Amino acid sequence: MFNITTVILAAGRSTRFKTKTSKLIYPLCGLPIISHVHSIAKKISGRKVIVVCNKENINDLKSILKDCIFVIQNKQKGTADAIEQAKYKINSKNVLVLFGDTPLITLSSIRKLIKKFLFSKAKASIIAFRAQKPFGYGRLLVKNNVLEEIVEEINLNLNQKKINLCNSGILITEKKILFENTKNIKTNIIKKERYLPDIFKIFHSNKFNTNFIECHEDEMLGINTLEDYDKVQSILQKKYIDKFIKIGVNFLKPDTCYLSYDAKIEPNVIIESNVTIKEKTIIKKDSIIKSNSYLEGVTIGENCNIGPSATIRPNSIIDKNSRVGNFVEIKNSKIGKKVSIAHLSYVGDANVGNNVNIGAGTITCNYDGNKKHKTIIKDNVFIGSNSSLIAPVILEANSKIGAGSVITKNIPKGSLALERSALKILRNKRTK
Ligand code: UD1
Ligand code: CA
Repeated sequence: MFNITTVILAAGRSTRFKTKTSKLIYPLCGLPIISHVHSIAKKISGRKVIVVCNKENINDLKSILKDCIFVIQNKQKGTADAIEQAKYKINSKNVLVLFGDTPLITLSSIRKLIKKFLFSKAKASIIAFRAQKPFGYGRLLVKNNVLEEIVEEINLNLNQKKINLCNSGILITEKKILFENTKNIKTNIIKKERYLPDIFKIFHSNKFNTNFIECHEDEMLGINTLEDYDKVQSILQKKYIDKFIKIGVNFLKPDTCYLSYDAKIEPNVIIESNVTIKEKTIIKKDSIIKSNSYLEGVTIGENCNIGPSATIRPNSIIDKNSRVGNFVEIKNSKIGKKVSIAHLSYVGDANVGNNVNIGAGTITCNYDGNKKHKTIIKDNVFIGSNSSLIAPVILEANSKIGAGSVITKNIPKGSLALERSALKILRNKRTK
């Protein structure tokens, strides 16, 4: 950790994003956009992270970001005005500025920026990138290797519009010099905002040493529109999937799968097409997740066989060597070892022992219209197809349920339970 305060600017109005709430709390691969930035900030500054927010988003941001200092920017008068709101909360010599809407930034790029700043004894250093489509970004005007100025899109002349060296917004500078000079940043007459990148022109005219590093465009993308959001999410997805491929997870059609930011998958797992892996999911080694399965908040043990088209919802554990087949839904349940739930079943609020067979179409009827109840199925139970288990109910070890039964009472150890009306066969009778 460095003795550097990080300020995350997050008081913008998200007008280009067109959603009701602040774009910064919008989930990106399961984690709010700003949390991606905050997790990097924490690694640089620990608790010295200041978030500049607005009156509308402060409560949301406070509930998401822990151990931060919050300051409010009352009117969105630009990034220069935003950093000024943090002035009296910064108590280190240097300050790093991050944008809440630039979530792909990596720790290694920030470290590279800090190194450049410290070793070159610059007054300010900024991260730049070469954009394929620079439209919308501020551009760096560099002459003889000297950064002279950063100009926003609306102020560029036709020649300058061709420059593809863009401003990421991420910079590090000395606190004292920064605030001595931000007061000289003028309001842009078109946008009615004061731009923080204008500080580079002021530093240059004062002959202060400034510089920049270049990082890859994919890291510096800012999320302004939903289109940007899709692009950023795709980049992040590819990064997560590549990380798992490297350790030996086999994705048969990686482009069709979705992974949450916190997915944990062990080597030698196979993931087929269209698999969605949401938050708090762990998949242990040697398991296979077949096409169209949806996993959220579940731990899948070793050597399990899941899907195709299985849905497993939060607070579930599937222990090793088990099978959850097609159109099976499991919720808030613990499933033991070597269990087979192969087709068309619903298992909710249940505790299932080891070596249990749950026949096709078995339903745990866990909801009585008022309350949820538990179903307990002990070791070696065999449940015939199309059975309804009316919870609360306990099926003791080694018991068997005949197909088509509606089970309303606890079933003792080792017994067979059957609940069926007698079959009538009426010979030679015709129905009209
Ligand atoms: C900004 C930069 C631009 C750069 C781009 C990179 C400025 C003036 N422009 O443009 O050079 O290429 O980012 O993504 O800095 N914010 C506030 N208060 C405000 C205005 C903005 O806190 O009054 C915050 C926003 O919440 C956001 C960040 O500052 O996190 C950047 O603001 P935004 O309006 O998105 O700037 P861009 O137009 O993207
Ligand atoms: Ca932006």
